Amino acid sequence: MADRFYICTAIDYTNSAPHIGHAYEKILADVLARYHRLKGDEVFYLTGVDQHGQKVQQSAEKQGVAPEQFVSEVTQKFVALWEKLDVRYDGWAATIEPRHKEGVQALLQRLFDEGQLYKATEGGYYSVRQEQFLTDKERGPDGEFGPEWGEVEFREEENYYFKLAQHKEWLLSLLDSRTDLVVPDFRQLELRNAVEKIAGDLCISRPKSRLSWGIELPFDRDYVTYVWFDALLNYITFAPGPYSSAAGTNLGEFHRWWPAIIVIGKDILIPAHGIYWMIMLHAVGFTDADMPRLLVHGWWNMSGAKISKSLGNVVDPLALADKYGNEALRYYVMSDIATGRDSDFSEERLIARYNGDLANSLGNLLNRALNMAHRYRGGVVRQAGGDSPLRAQAESAVAAYQRHMDGAQVHAALAAVIDFATSCNTYVEMTAPWKLAKDPERAETLDHVLYALAEALRVIAILIVPVLPKAAQEVLTQLNWKHDATLAAARWGGITDGHALGKPSPVFPRIEKSEATV
Ligand code: ME8
Ligand code: MG
Repeated sequence: MADRFYICTAIDYTNSAPHIGHAYEKILADVLARYHRLKGDEVFYLTGVDQHGQKVQQSAEKQGVAPEQFVSEVTQKFVALWEKLDVRYDGWAATIEPRHKEGVQALLQRLFDEGQLYKATEGGYYSVRQEQFLTDKERGPDGEFGPEWGEVEFREEENYYFKLAQHKEWLLSLLDSRTDLVVPDFRQLELRNAVEKIAGDLCISRPKSRLSWGIELPFDRDYVTYVWFDALLNYITFAPGPYSSAAGTNLGEFHRWWPAIIVIGKDILIPAHGIYWMIMLHAVGFTDADMPRLLVHGWWNMSGAKISKSLGNVVDPLALADKYGNEALRYYVMSDIATGRDSDFSEERLIARYNGDLANSLGNLLNRALNMAHRYRGGVVRQAGGDSPLRAQAESAVAAYQRHMDGAQVHAALAAVIDFATSCNTYVEMTAPWKLAKDPERAETLDHVLYALAEALRVIAILIVPVLPKAAQEVLTQLNWKHDATLAAARWGGITDGHALGKPSPVFPRIEKSEATV
């Protein structure tokens, strides 16, 4: 039965250019979206950009341009990257759009009218240079605020607060009843521990005197909305439907897709998605069954260190895709990290993965199988002899692949496919078609082997569609297999008796070592 999936990712900050971590997350969601389409499910994939807030305002000021211009330039870089990487989304959430602003304001007004917001004065340490309040997280090991904050003073400020703490018991009971809310499990446990510690409410406004680049509060024009409160709402303001009390809402369509699966990095589970977002939805009347699921991935690091502009270790994914091809990059970030865990980025690993798995195992299999079929049989395969030993292997590869993909473990799904390709290469060595070809009495065995190899390649090509859509299509074209690639078609026996294969040409040319380092 076909299911329906509304897949969202975090929306990327437009205060600086995209890096490999951004690319990874969008590719992961793209691969899951393509996998579900392969299964015949209905999919709506939403991604986008987070364009308001202090960091954007400061970056724009530093460059001496208006924030509108600054975000439009950075947004273009993200859009160009997704185009380059074949990240194909159905909806684009850009938070400066009127549709979003109307949705956010309508929701704020409703919370205000229902008494979920209140105004209060609070004091705290404020960095004049960075124009922000500091928390204990910003204190150095000595307990002091470091020199990077410049002059730090105690300030009082009046703001609007969202009654977060009163929903604490509800959130705890939700986490106890819906144990699949956060994937992987250990992240749900972490979240539960954080919820236990909720003490205060959430400040959701910033006075325009220090931050003007945001969505104005509908009930007080001296303030703009705190950027997280604005950004999180993208999942409903840009949903198919969408959900808001603004014009254009189609709640029937919204509920057809909702709840979403939201793909985020580990740094924005607590408190943003796990606490603020769940409570925001609950406060406006979403039921427990309507709480979104959170798929929390780990981080790409550089030699164990965090990727950061200040460390100067940011890798430009566009440059990598230019150098190695977008699918080499897609394959690397999907195969070399376990979803939920961290991994270390390395260009050498990218090359090793590509050369080992794609050029050697898969590329070699394709090249050998097609060449032998042409050399010995003019490219025509026959369904001769009994069952192939590759059939059972193909079936278990498909089953493992599906189980891992359903659990968002793309690396494990790919490993099942590559293991199968490796077994096929072993099968070539063992059956030695070049010997069979010399013995007229073994003609049927040769036909049997050549058919099995073509069929194995067809199954493999279908399974790699989500990660390597272009290469998969090329393999299918070389097999001269003209039907739609669907998971159902990955069943053994799709190639008919007397089928004429196409000519081989390299799909995965080896990357030579000298090209290394961007
Ligand atoms: O957090 N490896 O934006 P962002 C893997 N605008 N993932 C990484 C990563 C890395 N090294 N670095 C960042 C924001 N990410 C907000 C989100 S959602 C309503 C608003 C992930 O540009 C990060 O975890 O800092 C997040 O999921 C996404 O990239 C965007 O990060
Ligand atoms: Mg971040």
